[in-house]
Amino acid sequence: MQKLRTQVGIVGAGPAGLVLSHLLHLEGIDSIVLENRSRQYVQERVRAGVLEQGTVDLLTQMGVGDRLRKEGLVHYGIELRFRGRGHRIDFRELTGGKGITIYAQAEVVKDLNDARIAAGGQVFFDVEDVRPCDFDTSEPKIRYQKDGDEYELACDFVAGCDGFHGICRPSIPAGVLTEYEREYPFGWLGILADAAPSAEELVYCYHDHGFALLSMRTSQIGRLYLQCKPDEDLTQWSDEKIWQELQLRLASDGWKLTEGPVLQKGVTGMRSFVVEPMQYGRLFLAGDSAHIVPPTGAKGLNLAVADVQVLARGLTQFYKTGSQDFLNQYSQVCLRRVWKVQRFSWWMTSMLHRFPEGNPFDERRQLAELDYVTSSRPAATTLAENYVGLPMEWS
Ligand code: PHB
Repeated sequence: MQKLRTQVGIVGAGPAGLVLSHLLHLEGIDSIVLENRSRQYVQERVRAGVLEQGTVDLLTQMGVGDRLRKEGLVHYGIELRFRGRGHRIDFRELTGGKGITIYAQAEVVKDLNDARIAAGGQVFFDVEDVRPCDFDTSEPKIRYQKDGDEYELACDFVAGCDGFHGICRPSIPAGVLTEYEREYPFGWLGILADAAPSAEELVYCYHDHGFALLSMRTSQIGRLYLQCKPDEDLTQWSDEKIWQELQLRLASDGWKLTEGPVLQKGVTGMRSFVVEPMQYGRLFLAGDSAHIVPPTGAKGLNLAVADVQVLARGLTQFYKTGSQDFLNQYSQVCLRRVWKVQRFSWWMTSMLHRFPEGNPFDERRQLAELDYVTSSRPAATTLAENYVGLPMEWS
């Protein structure tokens, strides 16, 4: 068995793990990132693409914002469309100048990997059989295999940034964590299309047939979604049928949806999930390993980045002063934000989707809610301030 040592062992090379590793590096703290997929896989998987202002600011401060600033699309509003009419929520006006940036998660991950490698950072891809151990002692370890050899990485702390299906959360003994969960009786069928987006900003649409979303990756590539069954069979959806349904749901007077070749398609399930606490001993969970939000508020990546900012602060305090005060507050500080973002994502989801068990009362109520949100300035402001991202609260 080969032995290695670092200060912080990080499991998972998604946005949470890579941002954490780079933040620690900037504070002079060493880390090793272990990822069971290939670099190509993590850089190409299709995920969301909406960055809050705070996420953009952080990436910029970390020195990984150059391409993001050049290629990202800055938006200062979204459209809510219902009864065939669009209503703009003006973020700039309602939040004192804030906006969001459209830039695919895959691109964020590429930029972070490049920055880690340029700084001599250690990110090991294609590792197997990762096992965090002894994190209830002051000498945690992560055992893993690579190319058939067994390794033991000794570290001071383990960061579980390995996603909802990762190994870190289930490594915590039974009875420690409380899970809070809600599943939704629908999913999203998403496509990436070689078609210039038909609107300048994102369009969230409520329709009798179900929710639809017009989003984008670049000024040439569209990203569109349809509410579908949670276990929808993709083989039943030809490209033609997908466009037909998008045309129907998104239809609006004087507006045209431009079609194009479908480059990729997939079905995403929808759930809300939180574990409390987000820490056990010297193992800290961050991002999707600790919580999942439904995609309607576009919050997943942003929430992961907020977690690791809090974790980096705690680890920095520990290495600079020996104090564990901030580390001890990690879970509590993160969960305050997590639950507010859960509330927002659940609210957006509930307002915009057709519930199979819904009745005509619920549909009228949803339309009234949309009417209210788009006609009352305070109501629109609550949507806007959550969408652009709530301020960080450090206690
Ligand atoms: C996306 O572009 O993938 C996207 C945008 C907004 C959302 C969810 C996903 O709310």
